Amino acid sequence: MRVTLTINGRRRQYVADPGLVLLDLLRDELHLTGAKQGCDRKGQCGACTVIVDGKAVRSCVTKVARLDGADVITVEGLGTPENPHLIQEAFVLAGAVQCGFCIPGMVTATKALLDANPDPSTDEVKRALRHNLCRCTGYVKIIEAVKLAGAFLRGETTPDALRPDPNGPKIGVSHPRPSAMIKACGVAEFTADVVAPGALELAAVHSPHAHALIRGIDTSAAAAMPGVVGVMTAADIKGSNRHNYMVADRPVLCEDRVRYIGDPVAVVVAATREQALAAVAAVKVDYEPLPVLASPDEAMAEDAPQIHEEWSNVCLTQPQVKGDAAKALAESAAVVEAHYHTQLNHQAPLEPETCLAFFDGDGDQAQLVVVGRSINIHKHLAMLQDATGWEDMRYEEAFVGGQFGIKIDVTSEGLAAAAAVQFGRAVRYIPSIQESMFLSPKRHPFDMKLKLGADADGNLTALTMDILVDNGAYNSMGNVVMNRAVMMLSGSYNIPNVDVMARLVYTNNPWGAAARGAGPPQVNFALESAVDQLARKMAIDPLEFRRRNSLHPGQSKSTGQVVEEWPFPELCDAVRPSYERAAREARENSSDSVKRGVGLAGGSFGIGGPNDQSMVAIELDPDDGVTVYGAVADPGEGNDSMLQQLAADAMGLPLAKVRLVTRDTDHTTANGPSAASRHTYMSGGSMLDAIRQLKEAMAGCSATTYADMQGAGVPTRYMGTKKMVVGNLDPATGQGPSFESQVHAVQLAEVEVDTRTGDVRVLKMTCAVDAGRVIHPDNVVGQLQGGMDMGVGLALREEYIAGETKDWVTFKYPSMRTAFDMDVIVLETPRKYGTNGSVGVGEMTLVPTAPAVLNAIEDAVGVRVYDLPATPDRVKEALAAAVKH
Ligand code: FES
Ligand code: FES
Repeated sequence: MRVTLTINGRRRQYVADPGLVLLDLLRDELHLTGAKQGCDRKGQCGACTVIVDGKAVRSCVTKVARLDGADVITVEGLGTPENPHLIQEAFVLAGAVQCGFCIPGMVTATKALLDANPDPSTDEVKRALRHNLCRCTGYVKIIEAVKLAGAFLRGETTPDALRPDPNGPKIGVSHPRPSAMIKACGVAEFTADVVAPGALELAAVHSPHAHALIRGIDTSAAAAMPGVVGVMTAADIKGSNRHNYMVADRPVLCEDRVRYIGDPVAVVVAATREQALAAVAAVKVDYEPLPVLASPDEAMAEDAPQIHEEWSNVCLTQPQVKGDAAKALAESAAVVEAHYHTQLNHQAPLEPETCLAFFDGDGDQAQLVVVGRSINIHKHLAMLQDATGWEDMRYEEAFVGGQFGIKIDVTSEGLAAAAAVQFGRAVRYIPSIQESMFLSPKRHPFDMKLKLGADADGNLTALTMDILVDNGAYNSMGNVVMNRAVMMLSGSYNIPNVDVMARLVYTNNPWGAAARGAGPPQVNFALESAVDQLARKMAIDPLEFRRRNSLHPGQSKSTGQVVEEWPFPELCDAVRPSYERAAREARENSSDSVKRGVGLAGGSFGIGGPNDQSMVAIELDPDDGVTVYGAVADPGEGNDSMLQQLAADAMGLPLAKVRLVTRDTDHTTANGPSAASRHTYMSGGSMLDAIRQLKEAMAGCSATTYADMQGAGVPTRYMGTKKMVVGNLDPATGQGPSFESQVHAVQLAEVEVDTRTGDVRVLKMTCAVDAGRVIHPDNVVGQLQGGMDMGVGLALREEYIAGETKDWVTFKYPSMRTAFDMDVIVLETPRKYGTNGSVGVGEMTLVPTAPAVLNAIEDAVGVRVYDLPATPDRVKEALAAAVKH
């Protein structure tokens, strides 16, 4: 039918299919890609929000046919990076833009709100933006941005009054992130925003079985369906068909066996996504179900079938022995013994696992270009070359909608690249949320039996742990995750005797890999729960108990590594006033049915990993600015700011004269993943090494400009390096130097527990952190706030259940409704080996949040939950069990 619409001030007629939704008209026909698609058009994420006749609407559920005569404003209609709207300025200056995927929807929702209500309260902001999800920020800075936008629009202040001087100090100042404004204006290109006319659309067949043989695949009916260009199975893939991160166990497409629910079996490429999806339903796979190994215990049973013929079900064992734990426990004045379990979880970036693969050039000279969501482009390029058998390839990192560890491994790229090779055409793959969940790695579940002892003075004496890590069907980087857990096992504390056995086991569950923190959050949940239980058992204040047992310089971790700096006691002191205030308020505000509690947990998190290294180049440009070359992915943490501000400071340049080339394998050095909170420490460090060389070269020829260097015939480009001098743990004893530097935190949770329903509500989280010298205060606070929000999800709600978790509702995504108050206390102890004294902070708050929340639940109602998440049913069960006793 024909409708007349005004879009961003331009009136036009459209002949629309009755089913066409506004989002598809905007994105596919008008290339207005500011509105994003983050939930399969189910109306669950708000990333597609635009303004229709003055109201914020989710364009993915708004039919064009109903919009005759309507006035539509998208984020592009508000402002441009050169001439932004005050709301866009507010989001940038409030530090609310991290990955940026949710931001266009937030901006348009804010415009509709402020037009109707120029000075909204916090509750009114939360209500107006309740449909808009964000995984990065914990919503605090989003709310601040809306309030700031209101202040701008009311004329109470101006962007110029708040914007830091770009020529002023560079360190310790929240200069706008380099990409913040293009994200706020909706012109930053995420993978699905790249316009690729003629690209084939891909859809995949995924296994409904957790374990089965593939007897045959009949693709004939699918191949004959309208629009279908071809169907691809493992037999068609010309390379190894394996994603070889550390172990070549995960096929791009399954060959003769599926090993978890969601394993990809075949793909269809067609002219449209709808045609590809229809054809997928017509692919007939003949499965023969096999016994399902649903847990490490089942997989370790004597008669258990082997999940991979080439590898035993137990992938890795790592003991850790320090002192004599059995003797020390026997001699301890008090011992806590408990059994803890953490869940399988999804990292849940808002953007689907999208990829575009296309050929640049013709014939034999064509280079396959993969545009995607990688945080380690060189490693992933090598994996894709091996898997597809296509050598001439480059990887381009698009802007990505969050990652939190999920992008450590290849997912959609393997399928899209192999299909592009098979069919010789550009291929785009925009998986659904459920497919994105099928394709991507998860947070490993840990099962942990623990004993923790203390002497009569409340000094920790010994720790024993039996750890079983469910690796799922494939290894990816499971070895690294488990070893990192063992490396950080004793947390912030001096525990003289340790006896641990950790085992990593294949099962038929979804496979695990990195997930913000990657191992340490799981073991720290057990340790910090037990520390709290032991303090309570000994009637010692939990904060005092933690402070008393802190490591001190000269003492050693469970790895035997002697630490040189350990500002954990200072953090205990810093959080004490908040702790005492919270405890008082909890006592004063509890009722018979709704009880308040306060919980603490600490954490000390190692930066980088064994044998880590980084190489970043710097080049002096003809205008006497510099360009930084290095593959340093920034999926939202703020690595771009870190590089730009450090370089500007070291070179004495304005920010605009520092350019970054970080997203393309053809122009950068391999530089490791954006993981392990490592880029400030490693890549910032190697960049400063390059700058040191450049400055020495300039001084050596008395040059102050590019022209001087050219005149003297001295090179203008220098490669810097930073190497971590620590190696791996001893495989027999778990002893060894594990990290050069740590970030530390103490967290305080304030909760309210409804004893009738088991519902737990987090009222406030406070994080006291020390990550060394702060480069960009808003980025540090933003990482901590986002981590606290994610940690509360891990503590109370989130769990990935294969086959059941399929969208953001079943995942229980955090929203404005679940958002809570947050406070951040920052100490800045310069780190000896840090970059200008700094280390990273991206994962820190994921480590202590869950135990702090569960310790607060016990403080409130006197019962302990040992399994994450602490759902209302689990809390009620614990309360009922306590009544029986
Ligand atoms: S894409 Fe419209 S609400 Fe998610
Ligand atoms: S900034 Fe909101 S999802 Fe990343």
